[in-house]
Order: sequence, then C-alpha cells, then structure tokens
Amino acid sequence: MSGDAAPAFDLVILGAGAAGLMCAISAGRRGRRVLLLDHAEAPGKKILISGGGRCNFTNRDSAPDRFLSDNPHFCKSALSRYTQHDFIAMVDRHGIAHHEKTLGQLFCDGSARAIVAMLLAECGAAGVELRLAHRIGAVERDDRFRVETDRGSFTADSVVLATGGLSIPKMGATGLAHTVARRFGLALSETRPGLVPLTFADEELAAMQALSGVSIPAVVARCGAGRFREALLFTHRGLSGPAILQISSYWRPGQAITIDLLPDIDAAAFLLDRKRTRPRAEGRTILAEVLPQRLATQLADRYLPARPIGEAGDRELRRLAERLQAWRLTPSGSEGYAKAEVTLGGVATAGLSSKTMEAKAVPGLFFIGEAVDVTGWLGGYNFQWAWSSGWAAGQAA
Ligand code: FDA
Repeated sequence: MSGDAAPAFDLVILGAGAAGLMCAISAGRRGRRVLLLDHAEAPGKKILISGGGRCNFTNRDSAPDRFLSDNPHFCKSALSRYTQHDFIAMVDRHGIAHHEKTLGQLFCDGSARAIVAMLLAECGAAGVELRLAHRIGAVERDDRFRVETDRGSFTADSVVLATGGLSIPKMGATGLAHTVARRFGLALSETRPGLVPLTFADEELAAMQALSGVSIPAVVARCGAGRFREALLFTHRGLSGPAILQISSYWRPGQAITIDLLPDIDAAAFLLDRKRTRPRAEGRTILAEVLPQRLATQLADRYLPARPIGEAGDRELRRLAERLQAWRLTPSGSEGYAKAEVTLGGVATAGLSSKTMEAKAVPGLFFIGEAVDVTGWLGGYNFQWAWSSGWAAGQAA
C-alpha cells in the first residue's frame, strides 16, 4: 500500500498488558506495522504486581482442562500453538532466572520487572511503536478501523482489543473490550469476579475473624465441579488463600462449599485412637496435634468443651470428624472485582475464531487475553492464556 490511502499502521492494539505486548511482538516479527496504545503511564502493570512481585509467568503443566469457559474447547488451538514451553524458551533466551514454586508454577527468581523488560525489548526488536497515556475514545470501522484518542486518531486494517477484564479497577481496568464487542454486535458471556476471596456472615464470620491470619496447608475445597488441594487462609472478611481463590471461580451465589481441614488423615480414626491412647488429654490438645493451635482451640471449645477426650462419646467424635473433613458452609458473597485476580466470562467465544481470535462477523477485529471468556486456574495459567491468545492474534492480524 502507498500514498495517502495507506494506513499509518497495519494493526492497532489497544492495551499494553500481557496479551497486548505478546500480540505486538508476534505481529511485529511478521513485519506488520504495529501501534500499541494504552491509557496507563506504564505498560504491563499487572505483570509487575503479579506473583507477589515475582510474576508467576506460566505453568509447566498448562493444559486446556485448567481453563474455564462456556466453550471449554475454545482455548485448545491457541494454547497448543504457543505453549508454556515457547514462553519459557523466551524467558531463558533473555537470561531470566526462574524456579518452580509448587504445582508447576514458574516464578522469576528476581523481580517481575524482568518480564516486562523482556517483552519491551522484544517489542523494540520487532519495530512496535508503543504509545502510553492515550485515553481511548470510539473505535469505528469504515473501509478501515479508526481509533479515536485524546491525542489524535489512528487508522489501521486491524484492531486488537487487549484491554483485559474488570478486575482491580484501581489499576486501570475498564470494560472497553466488552463495550467495543457489544458495539460491533458480538455477544458477551456473563462476567463475574474470579480467583477472589469469599466472604461470610454472622456466626461463621465471627469465628473466621477470630482466626484471621491462620493458614492451613494442603486443604481441599470443593463445590460441584472443582476440587483443589492448596492452602486456606482465615481473614477478617472470611476465607482466602489459593484453595479458596481456586474454588471461587467455580462458585455461584447461594451455593455451598465443602472444606476438608485434614486432607491427609482419617479424622474419625484419629480421634477414636486418641480417645483410647490419650484419654486424659483435652480436645484442644489433641486437635493441636494436627491443626494450628488457634483453630484447634476454637473447634474444641465448640465441639468438645473443656473435658478429657476420654469422656467424649464415639458419636460425638464422629460428628466432630465430619465437621473437620466435610465442613459445609455457604459464602455470603465475594470481595468482588476490587480484589479479584481475574474476570470470568467476557467476549463470547462463539463469535471468535479459536485459531486467530478474530471476530467471525467483523473481519479485522480481534479480542485476546482476559477480555475473552477464557479464564485459567490460579498458578500462571492466566498469563499463559494472555501469551497464547496474543501470539495467535499476532500471527493473523
Ligand atoms: P491486562 O489487565 O494485563 O492488560 C490490560 C491493559 O489494557 C492494561 O495495560 C490497561 O492499562 C489497558 N487498558 C484497560 N482499559 C483501557 C482503556 N480503556 N484504554 C486504554 N488502555 C486500557 N496471572 C498469572 O498467570 N500469574 C500471576 O502470578 C498472576 N498474578 C496476579 C496478581 C494480581 C494482583 C492480579 C490482579 C492478577 C494476577 N494474574 C496473574 C492475572 C493476570 O494479571 C491477568 O490474567 C493478565 O494480566 C491478563 O492479561 P491481559 O493483557 O488480558 O490484561
């Protein structure tokens, strides 16, 4: 293309987060003239705060069954074309030291800043133009796409929406991708906060508040679909920790969750054994063998009030064991988008090509990353979706 009719850019990407940066690299390497726009003063802000500042940048065991979507098959193509191993290879090429923390989760040894620096270096090498602090207005289509901003308008053959989801509005999250999708007639899957602490009310909340700060390793939480064995944390608003964040993505208001506080032992057998072998010990002393003291005391005060375990009936001990291993409780809600690591739902996958992320009904319009109805488990999966979907769109846009 040449002359006045030539667009300044082949491709404008809105959102310089994980997905947008990867898409820019992927397209730029193909020789596309790429403009990457963001309203923030700095790119990749969520990368910087992720993983406690060390960025859990992918999961070695990433697989499609660790992603939630109305269409669980949608993520397969992109995840298989740009895999965790591809991203790890890039990290290695840049000499960024990393380690597996647990469950395949890969973290930088040092700061998450290294990941952003790597992506910016790759963008630079791919000739990507990055412009920050641009407030995005309308996105229109005539013969080309036109993106209006407070600092001028830009035209391109393709536009990629990489503005993420609704989580953490304080950090600049907006619903822009969803608004643009609607404007072009695409459907949205219902959005809700995911990977978020759950809140409780009344008596349950009071009990949890008294335990605030207590963390129990290796807890299983489950409700309908979904079962996770990770840590659980009591907080002043309810429950948090990886096990709860994981289950929150499967939880719907009104549903109960079930928690096994002692996933490694048979609690009934343990209590009946201690009744026989330590009959004079108090319940709180026995429970403290397998649970943190504060939790043991609270449970014992409630279920085995001050007296030797030898005086408790077998039925009573079995009831306590049931309470320990199948604690059923109904959250009153969640801490919402202000605390959610991700947004579930988003641009409906039925309207997108799973190979390219392009809107089937609007050639040249792409949606990637968290904006799309694909959400990963906790543990590096969400960044992997951002890298994979971003890369796939960059190969086509
Ligand atoms: P992302 O939100 O990263 O980027 C969107 C970009 O668009 C931002 O730069 C934003 O400024 C810009 N933008 C938004 N609206 C705009 C508008 N109207 N105009 C212009 N620009 C706009 N995942 C994981 O795999 N491992 C981890 O360790 C963590 N840790 C973690 C911690 C915390 C505290 C949070 C909140 C989240 C995580 N995540 C995570 C999730 C992960 O951060 C998330 O899934 C990805 O950042 C999504 O990448 P996207 O590029 O889609 O959106």
